Amino acid sequence: MPLSANILDGKKLSTDIKNEIRAEVSQITQSGKRAPHLVAILVGGDPASQSYVRNKMRSCEYVGFSSTLKRLPSTVTEEELLEKVRKYNDDPDVDGIIVQMPLPEHITPQRVTQTILPTKDVDGFHPVNVGLMTLNFPCLLPATPQGILEMLERYNIPTKGKHCVVVGRSRIVGRPTSIMMSRGGHPGEATVTITHKYTPAEELKRICPQGDIVIVAVGKPGLITAEMIKPGAVVIDVGINRVKDDSKKSGYALKGDVDFGPVSEKASFITPVPGGVGPMTVAMLLRNTLLAYKMSHGMAEMEQMTKDLYE
Ligand code: GUN
Repeated sequence: MPLSANILDGKKLSTDIKNEIRAEVSQITQSGKRAPHLVAILVGGDPASQSYVRNKMRSCEYVGFSSTLKRLPSTVTEEELLEKVRKYNDDPDVDGIIVQMPLPEHITPQRVTQTILPTKDVDGFHPVNVGLMTLNFPCLLPATPQGILEMLERYNIPTKGKHCVVVGRSRIVGRPTSIMMSRGGHPGEATVTITHKYTPAEELKRICPQGDIVIVAVGKPGLITAEMIKPGAVVIDVGINRVKDDSKKSGYALKGDVDFGPVSEKASFITPVPGGVGPMTVAMLLRNTLLAYKMSHGMAEMEQMTKDLYE
């Protein structure tokens, strides 16, 4: 009889977290203070990016944040975009700034990321925050990796001493996730293997079945098949791929990087797509914005460093 995996319900968890944030924001505004304010900059009209940003703005409204969506044409110059970012950096009524990725070819994403003030970098992409994260110092953590770890924590999934295989080394997901899973603290303390596009297919097939926890973020629908998963493993699928599907009104279906049906019969826990990691990313972005607000209002400090976390 095949195992049938428990679903890691990111949609429900994210609603719980958003309700926690909403209660806190309500207390803040009732005390006469302004609400936290997130600015999202969207360059061009990529349909997936538009949909993600819309979602983020809707979630801001739900928790009681102010939000601004700044749309710029795909022809905007890099300097014009940087100038907008600097304007929001200097605005004391703005707590968090995100620039939705990917950006058009003529804009260097690193330059944009480095221009956002680290204290307003609620995506956690700025080199200062990445450095602090790597050293296990308090900082604004990247939203998707933070969402993955939050899921593991809220479902009481042990990570200490487990083998975690991370497939994909992107700056946004794979690389920071691999660091956060190996750092001190909980969740963390895992043995981590990271694979990427230069890992030969046969190596990927050899490494994945060693994973107690397998985290996949590459953008290739169905890449991870049931043979690549150890019975009872925890499978986290970060892929959100638009696959042509004429039976859908939109003309496409959303599919993850994991072959969900067969893998769910082998895994102990698995995230669905959609409704898994995606909603958690949005919840963590809101949490970071609230944290940035509280720090700039003297209502919170980054947690004190402790010796045992500096690992
Ligand atoms: N593109 C894909 N994921 C993200 C994200 O978390 N933040 C931003 N800014 N762009 C993205």
